[in-house]
Amino acid sequence: MKVLVLGGDGYLGWPTAMHLSEQGHQVTAVDNYLRRNLSRDENVEALYPTPDLVERAAIWKQHTGKDIGVRIGNLCDWDFLAGVFAEAGPECVIHYAEQPSAPYSMLNRETATLTLQNNLNATANVIFAVKEFCPTAHIIKLGTMGEYGTPNIDIEEGWLDIEHNGRKERFLYPRAAGSLYHTTKVQDTDLLWFYVRTWGLCITDLMQGPVYGIHTDESRHSESLLPFFNYDELFGTVLNRFIVQAVVGYPLTVYGKGGQTRGYLNIRDTLQCVRLALENPAAQGELRIMNQFTETLSVNDLAELVRDAGTATGLDVRIKPVENPRKELEEHYYNPRHSKFSELGLQPTLLTREILVEMLETVSRYADNIDTGKILGKNATWAK
Ligand SMILES: NC(=O)c1ccc[n+]([C@@H]2O[C@H](COP(=O)([O-])OP(=O)(O)OC[C@H]3O[C@@H](n4cnc5c(N)ncnc54)[C@H](O)[C@@H]3O)[C@@H](O)[C@H]2O)c1
Repeated sequence: MKVLVLGGDGYLGWPTAMHLSEQGHQVTAVDNYLRRNLSRDENVEALYPTPDLVERAAIWKQHTGKDIGVRIGNLCDWDFLAGVFAEAGPECVIHYAEQPSAPYSMLNRETATLTLQNNLNATANVIFAVKEFCPTAHIIKLGTMGEYGTPNIDIEEGWLDIEHNGRKERFLYPRAAGSLYHTTKVQDTDLLWFYVRTWGLCITDLMQGPVYGIHTDESRHSESLLPFFNYDELFGTVLNRFIVQAVVGYPLTVYGKGGQTRGYLNIRDTLQCVRLALENPAAQGELRIMNQFTETLSVNDLAELVRDAGTATGLDVRIKPVENPRKELEEHYYNPRHSKFSELGLQPTLLTREILVEMLETVSRYADNIDTGKILGKNATWAK
């Protein structure tokens, strides 16, 4: 299949591009290096340097003989995006290309505006491009479990049946995002749903939980093929940060009571889920929503698992609760469904000690690069 991976330089985009190329798809990766530039501007660069997208595609070709096309440009620039779609003629469009950090979106007015404009314009342009150039292509869009928030009832997979005054209707499950970034994802879902109703597009919106991990099957060829790995509070996800903290003897910083529970998944399972969605597309005129995670864990659970794995490898790991910079419930009910991917055949990679030890060992090789001053950084608070 001809596949566009938008955001193909990113933490998830690059491993996805390699995975689908390995499976025999004709992949073009598109990116404008926004993520690299923001990390550099905020002085929170990743744990190890990663070659740029053009260089990575060349390294991939050297090891596998397979081509990944590369286009560098901004999805918000219609002329650029139209050119990419006209040339690539995609049958499937995987849309990762957004500003993905909740804390970054909450830093100040400029970062909030960048997040709003970038994410909504990029998504709108992708919809317009599909309508104009390939109206039957399947859009796979990355949303987040954070769209739902932490309601005091079970979370369904995207939709909720409501009975009101004796009549029934199916609505998008109520969203209650906890940051501006998450709010842009809610707005994306609304845009997608509007254009499915209006133009009969074919869309899968994936409500993904926080992802952890470094290695995928395709990165075995060379460490130069590993994805970015951020460990700062702006761009590092919680488990990736804890691993780095454990390696340098920095206490695992649990925000507040640590009862914040989310649905997590290994980066290998992100690839599996996206591939399963691609191989089993939504119907034309359908907005299919799937919850993409494999297990629910609290921040305290994660800290304890990392401490156990670290201790097993001879590290001295301590856990330290710190004041919570975020506005969020620290103890809450959390019961999201996630059966649709199991039904499609997902084989979960659960968070075992073995997986944690592999991550600790990889990060240890780059221990000299870790700048502990970047772990808590500006400690952005939601109230600013
Ligand atoms: N990583 C996670 O834990 C996680 C969890 C849930 C959802 N998601 C979502 O998955 C997607 C990928 O996440 P990630 O962690 O790989 O983020 P990332 O920042 O590493 O990747 C996103 C990529 O998109 C590019 N990009 C952003 N705006 C662009 C634009 N206007 N034009 C061209 N390229 C642009 C960035 O440069 C970056 O390389 C995001 O949409 C994110 O919100 C991620």
